[in-house]
Amino acid sequence: MKIGGVAYRSIWLNADGATVEVIDQTLLPHRFAVRSLMSLADAEHAIKTMIVRGAPLIGATAAYGMSLAMAADPSDSMLEEAHGCLLAARPTAVNLRWALDEMTAVLKPLAPAQRKQAGYQRAAAICDEDVALNRAIGEHGLKLIEAIAAKKPKDKTINIMTHCNAGWLATVDFGTALAPIYLAHDTGINIHVWVSETRPRNQGASLTAWELGQHGVPHTVIVDNAAGHLMRNGDVDMISVGSDRTAANGDVCNKIGTYLKALAAKDNDVPFYVALPSPTIDWNLPDGKNIPIEERNGLEISQISGRNKHHGISSVAVTPQGSVVANPGFDVTPARLVTGLITERGVCPASTEGLLGLYPERASNDATIGKPLQVPRRIKSEGVPSRVEAEKISTRRRRARNLA
Ligand code: MRU
Repeated sequence: MKIGGVAYRSIWLNADGATVEVIDQTLLPHRFAVRSLMSLADAEHAIKTMIVRGAPLIGATAAYGMSLAMAADPSDSMLEEAHGCLLAARPTAVNLRWALDEMTAVLKPLAPAQRKQAGYQRAAAICDEDVALNRAIGEHGLKLIEAIAAKKPKDKTINIMTHCNAGWLATVDFGTALAPIYLAHDTGINIHVWVSETRPRNQGASLTAWELGQHGVPHTVIVDNAAGHLMRNGDVDMISVGSDRTAANGDVCNKIGTYLKALAAKDNDVPFYVALPSPTIDWNLPDGKNIPIEERNGLEISQISGRNKHHGISSVAVTPQGSVVANPGFDVTPARLVTGLITERGVCPASTEGLLGLYPERASNDATIGKPLQVPRRIKSEGVPSRVEAEKISTRRRRARNLA
């Protein structure tokens, strides 16, 4: 994707062949800055603090994190340690586990002396594969947009709504949910995108709006709560969102608020599509019930930050001091609300049959399909202060005392 006319990916290896470069997404849209990751700790920090975010990019960064670990210490114990600490960095996006398992499968059988080079090679390949998968998703999704356009008068705009950021910033390039939009725009289809701000971290308002703007795609930012109103008014032709983890039955876990959009879409007959590359499918989960939902820092709710008049970044409080907040980062949209899954192999119904129709090798080879994993339902982000939980507990205790 181009930024100010220059082609970028969201992650790349520096010319020194050792340092990994990423775009610092915590500074966008106010500042464009590139950060260097030089160690396993840097990669872990980048994922935890959301310098990089979005399921495919988290996976790609973790892959490079393993390479950086191998460059420093190619031992078996480091291989295990790197896998463990990166896996714990964020819990919901399954691409993280997928990428770490891919890296381990390549690195473990090798002699330590071979691991550094092999690590960088496999991480680079994972990035290239992600770009190819997303390009294919774009092409399949484009056909859906073309079909909608064919039913409208030529000069009419196609209005597509998206949530969070499932664009090129969330992947290595192209994006998932936005890939068909970019292709449609490039082929001359009159596209306009409704960008929901995506409280609390505003990935829509900050990141999606920014990258659509860089590509020249007309868009309008709305508050999350405006989505149902726009659908009811007939102002939305299609919804396209991404996924952090898709269960084997087509249930989809994505940024908090996705489920509400799907409900409103169903009520208003708006097609609701989820775009996902296959590393986002968790074949081990029969349905979305046991997908671990990240519980994020309550400060994301009680405060809001943005650019101040001095061009610095400031935070201001939104809630009264002492109000308890809860911040689940993701929700699960049941398959019955999803019109179709857009994958690199084509579009399919959100169902076990639909997914196996595109990935038949999974039906015969993987005996684990449908076996539930023992995972906790809600997981607190690593490194996040337990203030919110502590506040909740003390409120419950206060209430219990008052009732006693
Ligand atoms: O918390 P984030 O910003 O990592 O959440 C990202 C999303 O929810 C995206 O929609 C999802 O990862 C799909 S990205 C192609």
